[in-house]
Amino acid sequence: MSLDKMEKWVSERLFQFKEKGILKGEESVIRGIKKSSGNKGPRYLMEGEGGKEFIRMNSNSYLGLSLNKEVIAAEKEATERFGVGPGAVRFIDGTFKPHVELEKKLAEFHRRESGMIFSSAYAAVCGILSPLISSETVVISDALNHNCIINAIKLSRSKDKKIYVHLNMGDLEIKIKECLGNCQRIIIVTDGVFSMRGDYPDLKKLVSLAKKYHPEFKEGILTVMDDSHGVGAYGKTGRGTGEVSGEDGIDILIATLGKALGVNGGYVVTKSKIIEYLRETAPFYIYSNPITPSEASAALKALEILDSEKGRKMLSYLKEMTIYFKNGLTDLGYETIKGEHPIVATMIRDTQKTIKLVNYLKEKGILTVGLKYPVVPRGDECIRFQISASHTKDDLDYVLKRIGSNLDI
Ligand SMILES: Cc1ncc(COP(=O)(O)O)c(C=O)c1O
Repeated sequence: MSLDKMEKWVSERLFQFKEKGILKGEESVIRGIKKSSGNKGPRYLMEGEGGKEFIRMNSNSYLGLSLNKEVIAAEKEATERFGVGPGAVRFIDGTFKPHVELEKKLAEFHRRESGMIFSSAYAAVCGILSPLISSETVVISDALNHNCIINAIKLSRSKDKKIYVHLNMGDLEIKIKECLGNCQRIIIVTDGVFSMRGDYPDLKKLVSLAKKYHPEFKEGILTVMDDSHGVGAYGKTGRGTGEVSGEDGIDILIATLGKALGVNGGYVVTKSKIIEYLRETAPFYIYSNPITPSEASAALKALEILDSEKGRKMLSYLKEMTIYFKNGLTDLGYETIKGEHPIVATMIRDTQKTIKLVNYLKEKGILTVGLKYPVVPRGDECIRFQISASHTKDDLDYVLKRIGSNLDI
């Protein structure tokens, strides 16, 4: 059989992953969800775990909108009208009214001229970076940027790429200066909120550096930010890292519809001319189906909720619960990364202890994720808890109590 040799090769690779401790292994399967009731937030039923109920402390649905009745109703209604799939890519009559409306509303929400949706934020980042990068462009990227940015840079044919020390604006400036006289365009690219740690860049400084050196380069400096974990989760009105930093000057903003907004898909918002160009050039947009019209309708409803008094109340409660949980961890003697984002990275700083605590919490009905080397640098091993507006205080007390009862780990 022609696959024999390949099977041998992949088996060796899988064995190496296991040896290195980077094998993800078998996936857990959610087979049902019990809706929130009383003092209990949603509970998850897992395949192979009988009737045991789990609290999810590892969901990106920061506002709980994936289970919101109005969002579900909007998706159902659109499915009745438009069916379950777009039937083709955007330029071959795969564009439906909810897609166009969503793009307009996303642009308005972020106070940008235009928006464009993709099947995911990953596809958005990979789709837009290549067309913006010429052979005379140097890309300067934060050392801890998300995998989609790393791969987007690999896909492009830039003149060079430079990596600056995580969040270090001094190092970013050094990297910009190294480019003087060596290229025509610079693209600075960063995550907004960093998914492993919940920290974020000093946007005021980043934008001011871009402005300062822009005149030195024939085609200028462009700033690109992927704020997939910021939008809908951070800031008084959920506008993300830009809002928290008081700096709205990022040129090209990318985010996901699949985390705080609770649905699925990704998008970019920026100037209309750039969007017009990207619709002509971004391969992940041109040659790949968009999200379904019903997903777009669900995202429209989620955005409407986010941008309302109700949404702002959810955000305020989310922040309150995040601080409550972080303080609880501090009282138990755990170290967390500073900040008020609902990603609560709890530093364990030891691989075996991280694995033990994650397994212990699962036994007690709590789903979390342990981040170990090489996903994070050695010594930065941590458990990532993610708070959601659908958690109750009782839920968080339960989790804290279980962590506290296992302090010997
Ligand atoms: C910073 C960042 N960008 C993009 C993504 C991917 O988002 P999506 O699931 O919409 O592709 C993630 C999710 O892990 C992320 O953390």
